[in-house]
Amino acid sequence: MQKIVIAIDGYSGCGKSSTAKAVAQNLGYTYIDSGAMYRAATLHFLNNHVVLSNPKEVNKYLESLEISFHLNPDNGKQETYLNGLNVEDEIRSMRVSDYVSEVSKIKEVRTELVAQQQRLGKKKGVVMDGRDIGTVVFPSAELKVFMSADLNIRAERRQKELLERGDLVALEKIVQNLAERDQVDTTRKESPLRKAEDAVELDTSLLEFEDQVNQIVSFAKEKI
Ligand code: C5P
Repeated sequence: MQKIVIAIDGYSGCGKSSTAKAVAQNLGYTYIDSGAMYRAATLHFLNNHVVLSNPKEVNKYLESLEISFHLNPDNGKQETYLNGLNVEDEIRSMRVSDYVSEVSKIKEVRTELVAQQQRLGKKKGVVMDGRDIGTVVFPSAELKVFMSADLNIRAERRQKELLERGDLVALEKIVQNLAERDQVDTTRKESPLRKAEDAVELDTSLLEFEDQVNQIVSFAKEKI
């Protein structure tokens, strides 16, 4: 059977990652979380006190940035590693969430991570989620989906996710973080978040998780 590339883009916190993961599992594809890569780069910069306005420093720390994904045999989940260390929980913290969109604006960061993402998707049979996957990383992806959802519903879902990790964060703080990231992501100069012309739109505000996964799987099966 022919393998395709599925690009899932959309606003922060509308369930792209969990949906993309489930779609990949259903089709036997590889899932790649491009947001985790921007988050890992952000953590690396925070840990090394990198001054974002200093391109020399940014380039120096991009050279020492090594991101990989490994399956955890205990829970079957794919986890993110930064320079050999498991950072899966740390990259989801509010400390990283509050800073990631500033790091993602930097041209050099995007050039490096886009190149890595394109290498990871070369063999097809991948589902990648992010902000610029259908527009920049894989402009000729066979299936492009653009996800959105009501801001308050997104914040409630994110709060539940954080709580499951043991992090109690006030709803207003999450609403503010999501809204700020959407604002920076949609207005930045370098590959802003926008719907690719040929993307299918999916508003998940009122959809059950299973339904949104099944929708995308059936779109994919039409292309395979
Ligand atoms: O997907 P997630 O919410 O984890 O992404 C975190 C941040 O990484 C986004 O708010 C955005 O600033 C950045 N990002 C990006 N391009 C991507 C994926 C994520 O700029 N392809």
